[in-house]
Amino acid sequence: MALAVTSSSSTAISGSSFSRSGASSESKALQICSIRLSDRTHLSQRRYSMKPLNVESHSRNESWVSRASTLIAPEVEEKGGEVEDFEQLAKKLEDASPLEIMDKALERFGDEIAIAFSGAEDVALIEYARLTGKPFRVFSLDTGRLNPETYRLFDAVEKQYGIRIEYMFPDAVEVQALVRNKGLFSFYEDGHQECCRVRKVRPLRRALKGLKAWITGQRKDQSPGTRSEIPIVQVDPVFEGLDGGVGSLVKWNPLANVEGSDVWNFLRTMDVPVNALHAQGYVSIGCEPCTRPVLPGQHEREGRWWWEDAKAKECGLHKGNIKEEDGAADSKPAAVQEIFESNNVVALSRGGVENLMKLENRKEAWLVVLYAPWCPFCQAMEASYIELAEKLAGKGVKVAKFRADGEQKEFAKQELQLGSFPTILLFPKSAPRAIKYPSEHRDVDSLMTFVNLLR
Ligand code: ADX
Ligand code: SF4
Repeated sequence: MALAVTSSSSTAISGSSFSRSGASSESKALQICSIRLSDRTHLSQRRYSMKPLNVESHSRNESWVSRASTLIAPEVEEKGGEVEDFEQLAKKLEDASPLEIMDKALERFGDEIAIAFSGAEDVALIEYARLTGKPFRVFSLDTGRLNPETYRLFDAVEKQYGIRIEYMFPDAVEVQALVRNKGLFSFYEDGHQECCRVRKVRPLRRALKGLKAWITGQRKDQSPGTRSEIPIVQVDPVFEGLDGGVGSLVKWNPLANVEGSDVWNFLRTMDVPVNALHAQGYVSIGCEPCTRPVLPGQHEREGRWWWEDAKAKECGLHKGNIKEEDGAADSKPAAVQEIFESNNVVALSRGGVENLMKLENRKEAWLVVLYAPWCPFCQAMEASYIELAEKLAGKGVKVAKFRADGEQKEFAKQELQLGSFPTILLFPKSAPRAIKYPSEHRDVDSLMTFVNLLR
């Protein structure tokens, strides 16, 4: 069997101080660790070798704790030299505790695995890593837009655990270009993807290129739309690792099956540092401009990128969570039940909307919702919109809908100010340009006020 033996030299990640140390492991036998990709990814099999960590040679900079305890790893067969099936391993670990999973991950990948750290779940990960007694590494993506409280948390965590977090920063030239061209808050206008790409995804890609595996704090119940099926461990469906190529990176999610309330019970019990923003109603915390507190009963994810539709609420760090069929909605309207069905709501075709745009003096004002029937926010406003249409019937304002997903999406973005679903436009009687409804309050009274003020 051919072995791809990795170099023992330090593996610096370009543009960062992210370095591999403790790499002089020639004295230990090579462990062979290969990956079998899931059928869903349609990728070919690959193998790679991995060096176990030489704990003696850690430098001061590493995130490392002394061997406080050694756990017995769960019964996962070591298949030296054979293809490792991570789908199978994920199934075996389905009932394992986060501590067992963490121990297994650190044992397998040594200093070529790191914890991706930012929020409360990640403090729990670090605590679990400490409890394994094994050395561990921690990295964080400093986007430059985090809350002061988050930086305080980072500092507190470094002190509590005696570690140095390996920070990754965005490329200065890329940030400069983005901000100079589009301003500091472009994500409110045209979506968060571009800014996240520059400030988070590319730095993450650089970080992961120096690793063979990473550990995240994702949970299934964190985001019903995108995370309900994340496995305990998987071949990373998006990013590449040290050896390059698809399938060269393994992603561990030790908290996948843990509920948010249990993470918090654990954090409280272990008395570890948490972000001071949690005491102010924040649950899921990202960058300052894109995070806000949630109200009691609101889902934690509603505090992130709240101006966008639910499907978009992955910033790219975990893009693999978005299923193909979700993405396909961009090009092919899905067969879902139609909404806004009422005699008082006119269904406009593309030609109908184009005519409306051309008219300078309309007989009546038109209120048009740009929608997608699968969008939960559109579904949530359906009843109010139909009620509004009833109230406005015969009152000089036509109420209409235009399905703007699929092949109409680009047109709607370019010509109709579509940012996210639903977008509501008022075509006043005498002004040529449509006015976009600026608020997230889509109740009948708020919409009626908007119509009455501007018709
Ligand atoms: S995000 O994709 O929406 O931003 P979320 O905040 O839910 O992610 O966090 C999920 C996991 O992604 C975290 O537990 C952590 O492992 C990783 N992560 C998120 N943000 C960062 C960051 N800034 N730096 C490092 N890892 C991060
Ligand atoms: Fe930019 Fe917001 Fe994404 Fe942070 S979360 S990188 S500020 S768009």
